[in-house]
Amino acid sequence: MRTTRMAGFDFSSGGQPVCDGVDVAAVAHAVGTPLYLYSAALIVERYRELEAAFGDYPHRIHYALKANSTLGIVRLLREAGSAVDANSGGEIAVALKAGATPEDIVFTGVGKTAAELEDAVRLGVGSINAESAGELDRIDRIAVAQGTRARVAVRLNPDIGADTHPGIATGRRSHKFGVPIHEARAVCRDAAARDGLDLVGVHAHVGSQITNLDTLRRNADLVARFTRTLAADGVRLEHIDLGGGLGIAYDGAAAPTAAEYARVLLEAVAPTGLTLLLEPGRWIVGPAGALLATVVDVKPQGDVRYFVVLDAGMSEFLRPALYQAEHRLEPLTARSTPAVTCDVVGPVCETSDVIAMGQSRPLPRVGDLMLVRDAGAYGSTMASNYNRRPLPAEALVAGGGWRIIRRRQTIEDLVACEG
Ligand code: LLP
Repeated sequence: MRTTRMAGFDFSSGGQPVCDGVDVAAVAHAVGTPLYLYSAALIVERYRELEAAFGDYPHRIHYALKANSTLGIVRLLREAGSAVDANSGGEIAVALKAGATPEDIVFTGVGKTAAELEDAVRLGVGSINAESAGELDRIDRIAVAQGTRARVAVRLNPDIGADTHPGIATGRRSHKFGVPIHEARAVCRDAAARDGLDLVGVHAHVGSQITNLDTLRRNADLVARFTRTLAADGVRLEHIDLGGGLGIAYDGAAAPTAAEYARVLLEAVAPTGLTLLLEPGRWIVGPAGALLATVVDVKPQGDVRYFVVLDAGMSEFLRPALYQAEHRLEPLTARSTPAVTCDVVGPVCETSDVIAMGQSRPLPRVGDLMLVRDAGAYGSTMASNYNRRPLPAEALVAGGGWRIIRRRQTIEDLVACEG
């Protein structure tokens, strides 16, 4: 089932894209580039679609802040009813600032520091997703010292491969995440017996940008089966947390729908009766954001191929350089010259600084605006100050208008921590 989406970016007019009725180029001219622009309506619409797909079965969506943790975005999802998946003390702080309660937060992360764990236990977060027997032991001791009990889930490593970029597959035994499945039973039994721990769940996230539902089905089946083994041991849980990972169609082709995803997970989990937690990031915000950039140079490489240099590169948007990710580009200035081959690159001083290679399109001119599609997830959160480049501005289209939700960083901001 595919719902008709009204919200978000519309490129159908050819050269003058709009975002929920707002002229995208006008925002770029007003704010300057590089600029991240998001559709509030599409973010909320996608959250609601995913939420509704699980129907009456007990479940909770914990939006993964790592995908996009700009306060304006987190607040929006919070107001829509989302809970939170946080991966660091910083993300917990942002979640709280956005109005989340501690109970709304699951705290994941392969390298939680002692200070982060102490804070999480003191706060009483909904669940700490523990990554190892050692971490469970540390949480137990912290909770006992604080005279409390910490709610924990054990992250399982199911040894399941995912058909995605190797850098974002997390479910194999050779990956650093979780407790190996064959050790997990003993680890969970031990956790359930600790004075400082309430073992409330198990967790497994096998990777990101997964469009093969069979991978997610195998993970869900395995985790559900594991909870039955634990129940037979007398260890009763509250929830199963299947992480995030649902992919989107960066090339515009078909990808699994929220309804198909929900059906696959519920088939496995419903027989357990346990509450289902999910930690989606990309699926909710990815298509709802775009990066706007200005062409700052155009130069030939041989006769038929050109470099088109933007004012945004790997420092603003790392995915093409790091994962060879391919994002569709839209020119905001229509040109009717014959198509040529363009390597669209950034301004940073290394050859890995690419945005989109081998594009066949009319040659843009200096000053033209270009838009990188589906940049709402893992765009702004992975931006850096490499080459002393200030972090870009971010704006949100909402209620028929738009507003800045993060001002452009200044060089003064950058050096304020130094000296
Ligand atoms: N839960 C856990 C434990 C995770 O590690 C992740 C993502 C998520 C949830 C959210 O996954 P999502 O629904 O967004 O796929 N920077 C990479 C993606 C890294 C994903 C890291 N973990 C990229 O740009 O593709």
